[in-house]
Amino acid sequence: MSDHVKLDIHDGIGIVTIDRQEALNALDDAILAGLEEAFLALGRDPSVRAVILTGAGKAFVAGADIKAMARFTPVEAKAFAQRGQRIFTLIEDYPHPVIAAVNGYALGGGCELAMTCDIRIASDRAKAGQPEVNLGVLPGFGGTQRLARIMGRSAAKHLLFTGEVVGAARGLELGLFNEVVAPEALMGRCMEIAAVIASKAPLAVSGVKRAVNEGTDGPLAHGLALEAELFSRAFATLDQKEGMQAFIDKRPARFLGQ
Ligand code: CAA
Repeated sequence: MSDHVKLDIHDGIGIVTIDRQEALNALDDAILAGLEEAFLALGRDPSVRAVILTGAGKAFVAGADIKAMARFTPVEAKAFAQRGQRIFTLIEDYPHPVIAAVNGYALGGGCELAMTCDIRIASDRAKAGQPEVNLGVLPGFGGTQRLARIMGRSAAKHLLFTGEVVGAARGLELGLFNEVVAPEALMGRCMEIAAVIASKAPLAVSGVKRAVNEGTDGPLAHGLALEAELFSRAFATLDQKEGMQAFIDKRPARFLGQ
């Protein structure tokens, strides 16, 4: 694993920590490679049911590395954006839920990274935004697309045009954050949510993620067809038999992810 990206797995929960504190966890090539490596490793581990993604120190991620980007040619910039987008899509498509523990600055590429996650829990010290217009550029790791999908085009355009950085309370109002908690409660709250998710039927949870991610951007008929297909597939699992039998027997279900 990269020196700046750490992966720990305990009790079915993966924790990915970006740790390049001297640059507020700014995303350079090595961190992008480390994130890719971490999520590929998580994908190979059948014990993992949920993942928490966070940053070490006072930032979640303060953006893509401006010092590295400063000399990019247009061709290099395109390759960088495409690489970041590919790795961010790998995170978004990771089959189990990913929770962003937004501990501080989530700016530019950091906000974009948080938006690849399924749920974002913020510390009340978090600050988020897409300040790329201050640098003469626009978001390159999906910000124009995912911000608009999360909060609607109008609110997203306001943030994207002005580069405004919002605090945790405003992020909550805009739907960027699911919850805001005290800094010392952040990891505990994320672990609590991850543990609840990990106790549910894993294939069913993955089906929910896929149905929402793949089904909600297109026509309703397409989303409903996908939901029916995934609902049907759940009935070919042992977990469906166990979950329904446990209800009938009035006992807790024991899911195997099969
Ligand atoms: N890239 C490279 N280095 C960064 C960085 C970034 N995105 N953000 C912070 N750093 C570095 C600083 O240069 C500084 O390093 P030095 O000590 O060597 O000077 C160190 O991290 C600490 O930062 P500050 O001294 O600036 O800390 P602060 O507490 O005064 O300010 C901050 C914090 C408001 C987050 C400020 O650092 C900041 O504005 N950072 C840039 C945020 C930004 O514009 N992000 C978007 C980047 S573009 C992008 O991400 C494009 C894309 O979509 C792919």
